[in-house]
Amino acid sequence: MATDATPAAPLALLAELTHRCPLRCPYCSNPVNLTRVAEELDTATWARVFHEAAELGCLQVHLSGGEPTARRDIPDVVRAASEAGLYTNLITSGVLAGGAKLQALVAAGLDHVQLSVQDAEAGSADRIGGTRGGHAKKLDFARQVQEAGLPLTLNAVVHRQNLDRLPQLIDLALALGAGRLEVAHVQYYGWALANRDALLPTLAQLEAATATVEAARRDLKGRLVIDYVVPDYYARRPKSCMGGWGRQFLAVSPAGRVLPCHAAESLPGFDFPNVREVSLRWAWERSEAFARFRGTAWMPAPCQGCEHAERDWGGCRCQAFALTGDAAATDPACALSPHHHLLDLAVQEAAAATDAFTYREMGRSPAPVG
Ligand code: SF4
Ligand code: FES
Repeated sequence: MATDATPAAPLALLAELTHRCPLRCPYCSNPVNLTRVAEELDTATWARVFHEAAELGCLQVHLSGGEPTARRDIPDVVRAASEAGLYTNLITSGVLAGGAKLQALVAAGLDHVQLSVQDAEAGSADRIGGTRGGHAKKLDFARQVQEAGLPLTLNAVVHRQNLDRLPQLIDLALALGAGRLEVAHVQYYGWALANRDALLPTLAQLEAATATVEAARRDLKGRLVIDYVVPDYYARRPKSCMGGWGRQFLAVSPAGRVLPCHAAESLPGFDFPNVREVSLRWAWERSEAFARFRGTAWMPAPCQGCEHAERDWGGCRCQAFALTGDAAATDPACALSPHHHLLDLAVQEAAAATDAFTYREMGRSPAPVG
């Protein structure tokens, strides 16, 4: 049993194996300063991290990036995670992952595949992903996953420029044999924040999408599970980001930094521990970075004493910083936040903006937003 000094075990580890990626999605949540290959952890260090994660109590690992299969050692990485006793979920664009590579991943013990699609229509999908021919490769990869007998989740990040085709995305998930579809409205960190004006949906689009999801959940019960991540910019209460800072989840960046969420590297004033220097247990249980926003004692007004405090944990620290410059502020997605009006302003600005993207690129810094 955990005490105040010993937090309960995390449920899952997000292993960001690399920031390399053949796609250039403008909504990527990776930090705008992407990690170069020379700084990436090696296979042996990842194997140690997986054993430490399992020993700490993690049950599953999400192998992500960038594109995790851009690493040549990806079968060895999967094998190490599987041998550590973790349930292995590959989060992939599918573009580099088919053929012999997929067979090697299956042989290494891969348990599950989560495949991203950018749209249901190939021309638009390739434009959003910034890679010609990418969508066709994804469809082919999904068929291979089905043939290999692996469970498949389709992940569709939705926004103003693809949301009207949500019914077709649901049809696509069914056609590809997915058991689960994640319909995730863009969360605005990293590259996504830089592209917010081109991505924010209108209220009418959001309402139509929500109705589509509700109807599909009813009609497809028992055939397809649909997860729905709603957009903060129209919310009155924030999401419980990561289930609360340092409560259920930890991430390791390509360069080995241990983070409470995938976007935390962009927060200033933190000395995030690194697996090259400390154990995962030390990072989780002892580091100041994980302790800083754990629980409710750190909360400012109006969170302090609020009846929702242990439900949403004050919302998202990364969003609070991105919008107010203060990671300890109440998430502006909350209607009780003194900064809530910033979301309305962003929606108004986006309505007047063009659909042009700033594509994700190594070594490129998009113009700051705000
Ligand atoms: Fe959540 Fe804080 Fe808003 Fe209360 S005031 S609903 S705890 S974000
Ligand atoms: Fe970092 Fe929400 S994404 S706390």
